[in-house]
Amino acid sequence: MGEAKKLYIKTYGCQMNVYDSERMAEALGGNGYVEVGSPEEADMILLNTCHIREKAAEKVYSELGRFRGLKADKPGLKIGVAGCVAQAEGAEIMARQPMVDLVVGPQSYHRLPEMEARAGTEKVIDTDFPEEDKFARLRERPKAKRGPTAFLTVQEGCDKFCAFCVVPYTRGAEVSRPAARILHEARDLVDRGVREITLLGQNVNAYHGAGPEGGDWTLARLIRALDRIDGLERIRFTTSHPNDMGDDLIAAHAECGKLMPYLHLPVQSGSDRILKRMNRRHTAESYMRVVERIRAARPDILLSGDFIVGFPEETEADFRATMELIEAVNYGSAFTFKYSPRPGTPAAERPQVDPAEADERLHRLQALILRQQQAAQDSMVGRTVGVLFEKPGRRPGQMVGKSDYLHSVFVDAQELDAGDLRRVRIVSSGPNSLQGVLA
Ligand code: SAH
Ligand code: SF4
Ligand code: F3S
Repeated sequence: MGEAKKLYIKTYGCQMNVYDSERMAEALGGNGYVEVGSPEEADMILLNTCHIREKAAEKVYSELGRFRGLKADKPGLKIGVAGCVAQAEGAEIMARQPMVDLVVGPQSYHRLPEMEARAGTEKVIDTDFPEEDKFARLRERPKAKRGPTAFLTVQEGCDKFCAFCVVPYTRGAEVSRPAARILHEARDLVDRGVREITLLGQNVNAYHGAGPEGGDWTLARLIRALDRIDGLERIRFTTSHPNDMGDDLIAAHAECGKLMPYLHLPVQSGSDRILKRMNRRHTAESYMRVVERIRAARPDILLSGDFIVGFPEETEADFRATMELIEAVNYGSAFTFKYSPRPGTPAAERPQVDPAEADERLHRLQALILRQQQAAQDSMVGRTVGVLFEKPGRRPGQMVGKSDYLHSVFVDAQELDAGDLRRVRIVSSGPNSLQGVLA
């Protein structure tokens, strides 16, 4: 047997890309690759890319430019581009960067091992949307130990076509994986040391996978089945659309002990005029009603959101409506974005907001979110919460983990190991984390 070939993967974008990168690394393991931490030592470099905003997409080209020297030094080096830029731009990537040997879209990863074998002698490209579960066709994970937390993709793609968003084009139509495969994968992860699973999907709460005995399962049904897996301690899911928050999923937040009290529920804007132009198919008020239903079921839940400012034709009054909605909801955290026109999406063709104005709104929005985020974190002081410990902190004897509410918590205690789930009394709150003592 020859020496193992070395694979360097760099991942951009959302958690689904993180999951995909793990699966691609495992699949390429079958071709003799082991993962390494730097591009300099690699025989193959794979960029798993994101197309959501212009900056994310452009990063790929600047990163590729940096590899030019490596390729000159090592002509056998294979360079691949996967992910959403690969899907959106396809052969265009090779036209702009001829040193790229392989381009693979997110729905074709099961073909990656075969593509890798051909890469180097010819240019290989696959951006099909085949009618099959790529994860089922990807090599099974080797039974290696894992850290305490893991992502598990249950649903992919999107049929909602928000006017700003590339995801329906880069990931394709909404598809749910069969429940039995997800349960099998979850049990396998638990056997390998995982205690918390985050179910992933672009519209995860629209999940409707085939059930083991026929009929479709909802996400709530899947969560209830996962809730019964011994050794699995925590369940989370992301990202949800407000229109798909079914009663059974809301009830699961009240009834499933392992389902954590944290929900990412993007609204994008608080102005009905803008929501309509975004093709979101909900209003600020209908969103508020969903929030009320969730809080009635689980009063302590922390909500997080996504916001876009400077969407085409957004006025100061529209923006103020967004600020008012944020005041009314009171978020535990949120991601804020300046609108970025994306080629091929309807909103890109519309009159754009003055960039200086958009920047100014973004700052005001971020200041408000930061205040709410800090207040939510500070409100944990004095409470006793569950913490799943993940890794050592900077100080000797210190461990860091995530609370039920997804806050980082530091605890000084020699006896703690990664994977321990303990009750912790929160004693103080810093800028980005909490400090606690074992309860
Ligand atoms: N499927 C998820 C997330 C999609 S992408 C959802 O429906 O919520 C993550 C976030 O990126 C979005 O929620 C949105 O806030 C932001 N986003 C998407 N397209 C964007 C664009 N063109 N410009 C700026 N932000 C964008
Ligand atoms: Fe994009 Fe909208 Fe689909 Fe989310 S729901 S992935 S924002 S199109
Ligand atoms: Fe980016 Fe694709 Fe995820 S565009 S956010 S990597 S689905």
